[in-house]
Amino acid sequence: MRLILLGPPGAGKGTQAVKLAEKLNVPHISTGDLLRRNVVKKTKLGQQAQRHMVAGTLVPDDLVIEMTAKRLKEKDARKGFILDGFPRTLAQAKALDDLSDIDEVVNLFLDPEDLVKRSTGRAVCPNCEAVYHVLTNPPKKKGVCDKCGSALIQREDDKEEVVRIRIKTYEERTEPLRMYYKERGLLRDVYASGHIEEIYQRILEALRH
Ligand code: AP5
Repeated sequence: MRLILLGPPGAGKGTQAVKLAEKLNVPHISTGDLLRRNVVKKTKLGQQAQRHMVAGTLVPDDLVIEMTAKRLKEKDARKGFILDGFPRTLAQAKALDDLSDIDEVVNLFLDPEDLVKRSTGRAVCPNCEAVYHVLTNPPKKKGVCDKCGSALIQREDDKEEVVRIRIKTYEERTEPLRMYYKERGLLRDVYASGHIEEIYQRILEALRH
């Protein structure tokens, strides 16, 4: 299965991608996570990407395409993958066409104000990248990762003013991709409101059709 998860910031792509990757036994490839790892390691890519990420705008296409192309060539991605956060522009979608065939595109959609609530309440583990929400998906012990015991943090780009810029960026730059994949008969729209498990079942159902 070569699957793209499309959807605005906070729609739940990462949360669902983890579950789908386990079920389908394919790697979860999140360009946001790959970029954040580069920022932490202070690589050249990380330094180039950081200012765009904290501002809520997109990292330039050439950098992201090169990074993703490299990741897709790794051995584990030969059996399939779940792409989370890529492509985000028409140029990225066209580059992906040259890299791989895509089987399905799931588009998670949600009311913008719900997106803001989800992102501003998110807590992440800087060590194992697990994702929580302080109200709707809290860890067992407040502020501590269930999986590895590290202290949870808030992402720098989850401040409300940056979240709103990210949503606007999505509407302008990424929303057009919905039509791109619809025209190819690959698009499955899934409403992303409700419990995590409920949405997971909706995605599985959409993939069966
Ligand atoms: P990235 O990390 O990809 O961020 P994003 O697309 O904005 O998506 P998020 O991670 O914010 O949200 P999500 O949909 O994964 O939701 P999640 O599951 O965490 O990108 C960050 C930045 O990197 C970009 O702004 C850009 O600068 C750069 N970048 C990345 N890729 C790029 C590209 N291809 N090109 C250019 N630049 C790129 O859930 C959100 C919260 O809600 C969590 O707290 C979760 O616990 C909670 N939640 C999830 N589901 C539910 C539910 N059903 N009910 C209640 N709460 C829920």
